[in-house]
Amino acid sequence: MCVKMYEIVKAEKLTPDVTRLEIAAPKIARKAKAGQFIMLTVDEHGERIPLTMADFSAEKGTITIAALEIGKTTRQLGTLKAGDSLFSLVGPLGLSTHLEEFGTVVCVGGGIGLALMYPVVRALKEAGNRIVSIIGAKNKDLLMYEDEITAVSDEMFVCTDDGSKGHHGFVSDALQKLIDEKRKIDLVYAVGPIIMMKVIANLTRPYNIHTVVSLNPIMVDGTGMCGSCRVIIDGETKFGCVDGPEFDGHKVDFENLTARNKRYLAEEETSLRIFQGAK
Ligand code: FES
Repeated sequence: MCVKMYEIVKAEKLTPDVTRLEIAAPKIARKAKAGQFIMLTVDEHGERIPLTMADFSAEKGTITIAALEIGKTTRQLGTLKAGDSLFSLVGPLGLSTHLEEFGTVVCVGGGIGLALMYPVVRALKEAGNRIVSIIGAKNKDLLMYEDEITAVSDEMFVCTDDGSKGHHGFVSDALQKLIDEKRKIDLVYAVGPIIMMKVIANLTRPYNIHTVVSLNPIMVDGTGMCGSCRVIIDGETKFGCVDGPEFDGHKVDFENLTARNKRYLAEEETSLRIFQGAK
């Protein structure tokens, strides 16, 4: 069968608002490593958006992304079907997850961050670590990648805000419990909403547990040229796309990141309104 460049091989809904796409991209799939991202453009008039890779397979020549449909482009992605093609796809971009045998690694993920967490957990496990995973969502219907993450974890804790599955509460509660139990924790890896990563970093700081977070600043080129993805790490300016996306969580200025990620809200709302009106 002949597959076109950047053709959607498989499209499915993971939750009502999250679309998973497996895309033919053999060159990217061959080089991809856990923690890296791609930039895509849906059509020739579209914006470039960064998305972290939820999976990749050199054998199949595909990469997989998961998109939360909140803006114009991510909603457009949600309309794509198998056989459609993307206009452009660039990657793999960013530094890959630093892998070594740390010992026990607690991986904490929430929301759409669970899609990125899966290949990172798998890679950390393959590097010889004992993996304790804590995953969370607002409710059980919004949980993603539970089976995949369970398969590469030694221990698994599920949390939901409404108690519809697993522990009734936040992922930070589950991590605090492990710390209170005096479990040996050599590294915490957190990926998810900014507020979640900030809470996790603040939680581990007094215990001196090294904590890595994967940041999601607004990106334009994704290659270190535009400065859009500036983040402040330990008082210094870094670029999320080429110096990250992973950073020491105890050194991240989360207030600055939160404020910078809101700077195009008005334009994003206008673009979404036009897209919805045009449908
Ligand atoms: S996205 Fe342009 S410098 Fe990082």
